[in-house]
Amino acid sequence: MICEREIHAKTAAESEGNIGMATKVGVIGSGSVGKTLAAGFAKHGYDVMMGSREAGKLADWKGKKGSFAESAAFADVVVFAVKGASAEAAAALCGDGNLRGKTVIDTTNPIAEAPPEKGVLKFFTTFDESLMERLQKHFPAARFVKAFNSVGSASMVNPEFKAGAPTMFICGNDGGAKAQVREILTKFGWETEDMGGAEAARAIEPLCMLWCIPGFLRNDWTHAFKLLKKT
Ligand SMILES: NC(=O)c1ccc[n+]([C@@H]2O[C@H](COP(=O)([O-])OP(=O)(O)OC[C@H]3O[C@@H](n4cnc5c(N)ncnc54)[C@H](OP(=O)(O)O)[C@@H]3O)[C@@H](O)[C@H]2O)c1
Repeated sequence: MICEREIHAKTAAESEGNIGMATKVGVIGSGSVGKTLAAGFAKHGYDVMMGSREAGKLADWKGKKGSFAESAAFADVVVFAVKGASAEAAAALCGDGNLRGKTVIDTTNPIAEAPPEKGVLKFFTTFDESLMERLQKHFPAARFVKAFNSVGSASMVNPEFKAGAPTMFICGNDGGAKAQVREILTKFGWETEDMGGAEAARAIEPLCMLWCIPGFLRNDWTHAFKLLKKT
């Protein structure tokens, strides 16, 4: 269990710009997102531990590995990359105390257990409550930031596009956590657009639906979003 003083010490160190020096990243998830981001953080010099409920799923990962709880306890920054329908259960397995005070990068999408309709995914959430809001409500001491949910895993780390850096839309209630995620995204080759508080996840999560349509209809999974501005 991490005490409040340690949390504040970490937060202060992070706000002084020490992020990335030896920041410990706990990746919760053994799927393509977890594996891609774990490799991306390792490439950028972070100290990474991957977490899974089944050790065998992390056989290819040569670095530190453990359970969800061990990975979350290890982390200064948690990357939450689990199946959307199991997100609350997975966060509970991480342990409330292990998430307390930490930035949690929430990559999840609330994809329902139903096939897409003409390429359009079905979600189990509504326009009035996103998955990240549910997670934030159940784990109020964690500092959730939505990110990486609206692009395929193959383009998450330093993607190369002719038009330059793509845009990652983020949101969350904690400004310090969002600043941390912005710094990470810059290292990972992204422009960041902060859309505000956790409620903005109601709009950011469905970007996944839009992103997947060309994939389901035309097997085109190689794009990313970019926000164009006049000024
Ligand atoms: N795939 C992409 O390109 C992509 C892109 C953007 C966002 N996303 C989102 O990112 C998240 C991860 O996607 P993914 O494709 O990497 O993998 P995924 O297949 O959606 O999720 C795999 C992870 O979910 C965990 N999980 C499954 N059922 C669980 C349960 N009942 N309780 C606890 N944990 C459970 C698994 O844990 P174990 O390791 O213990 O099996 C595994 O770590 C999803 O929410 C997805 O919508 C995916």
